[in-house]
Amino acid sequence: MVSTPSLEVQATARQYLADATADGRSPNQELLPLTTCVNDRDCLEIGGCDVATLVEQFGSPLYILDETTLRTACVQYREAFRRYYPGESQVLYASKAWNCLAICAIVASEGLGIDVVSGGELYTALQAGVSGEKLYLHGNNKSREELQQAIAANARIVVDNWYELETLAELTRGATHPAAILLRLTPGIECHTHEYIRTGHLDSKFGFDPDSIEAVFEFVRQQPSLAGIGLHAHIGSQIFEIQPHRDLAKVMVKWLQLAARYDIPVAELNVGGGLGIRYTESDDPPSIDEWAKVVGEAIAAACQEAGIPLPKLLCEPGRSIVGSACVTAYTVGSSKTVPGIRTYVTVDGGMSDNPRPITYQSLYRAVVANRMSAPLTETVTLAGKHCESGDVLIQNARLPKTEPGDILVVMGTGAYNYSMSSNYNRLPRPAAVLVGDGEASLILQRETDRDLIRQDRLPARLRLQSS
Ligand SMILES: Cc1ncc(COP(=O)(O)O)c(C=O)c1O
Repeated sequence: MVSTPSLEVQATARQYLADATADGRSPNQELLPLTTCVNDRDCLEIGGCDVATLVEQFGSPLYILDETTLRTACVQYREAFRRYYPGESQVLYASKAWNCLAICAIVASEGLGIDVVSGGELYTALQAGVSGEKLYLHGNNKSREELQQAIAANARIVVDNWYELETLAELTRGATHPAAILLRLTPGIECHTHEYIRTGHLDSKFGFDPDSIEAVFEFVRQQPSLAGIGLHAHIGSQIFEIQPHRDLAKVMVKWLQLAARYDIPVAELNVGGGLGIRYTESDDPPSIDEWAKVVGEAIAAACQEAGIPLPKLLCEPGRSIVGSACVTAYTVGSSKTVPGIRTYVTVDGGMSDNPRPITYQSLYRAVVANRMSAPLTETVTLAGKHCESGDVLIQNARLPKTEPGDILVVMGTGAYNYSMSSNYNRLPRPAAVLVGDGEASLILQRETDRDLIRQDRLPARLRLQSS
């Protein structure tokens, strides 16, 4: 395995990249996409494309997504589950991490199904050509329309609560084919991650309370229009610990045994996602292979101990599939030194294209991509351009001395960046390009000022008279 890259000087990063090969590396343990190198121009290159040239061609800020890294993560998950779980398995991509046509098409072409959490994500996946049976609709407050959309597409529905279960029973009454559902249960498992992305503890807004399980099973048993085909749990996101996943296996297999008592044939067990990624040198997540081994072996062992047949095992990682495959390139603009306190260096994006630092106090790393061998002489606050003092991408970033026009690359921006982006301050969303083998393809067009007012309506009585 490749050693942890130290970014103390960019030259070290350069050496690290020169030594690295894509073989055997787990994308979620890398700071940069697998194909990253430094080229003869002393520039960062990803997927065979010079980052500074990409910015000239497609504008700034720019999301740069490496196809090799994305596909490698999909293949590693798929193969690891085959290797370590003796029963059937299916990896789903949790597309809330980043849902768009191109990404849905890539992950589906690698054999993954897709977890969607809204009618919009479902629609996008269908438009990308993904078959409805490979889609799983999540959400703790699905509308009737979203449920109907999922039923029409033949997608699986992960039922979250009583209201939804009753609505679904009503919507499917008299249907010729029962709707395929999974039941989301709260496992009561604590893990160490930000409280906003912890979901498995009892005080969570997601899933049925474990005390109501038997009543839920009894209700489902009485609904001929609902086929209870699976159980689901998800304990949280950006998790580095392994033990909670072992604990989850035991809890879920107990649910399986209970379902059998209610004559509910549970064919699928979905253990959710949650594997963390390396955003900074001090992050040390398990590899995809290690995670799949723990999960696969724990479920198989718990089933064996309980003397029950192996269900089809599902998981739904998001961050660890797409997170490390993408970087965001910005252009440096103004800077300001507050004597004795700090220097702000400002880029042309910020909390609208990456809301994670301001939302979760997430940490990131950055390099000056157009001068990779420049020594790190400065410690600066890398600020965004929004009218918000908290709009800071990186505190205490170690960088070379920057100049306006420099290309600054923030790493690990594939997950929960574009998908959580906004038009705050009426900034158009950046473009995204997919890179591989020296080619760059536009996968998300940059928004324009016209896009910003597309939904605006100006009632006639408000029209200003031109002077
Ligand atoms: C139900 C569910 N499944 C899967 C995921 C994906 O988690 P991650 O991106 O950490 O793998 C999430 C994330 O919030 C989730 O809520």
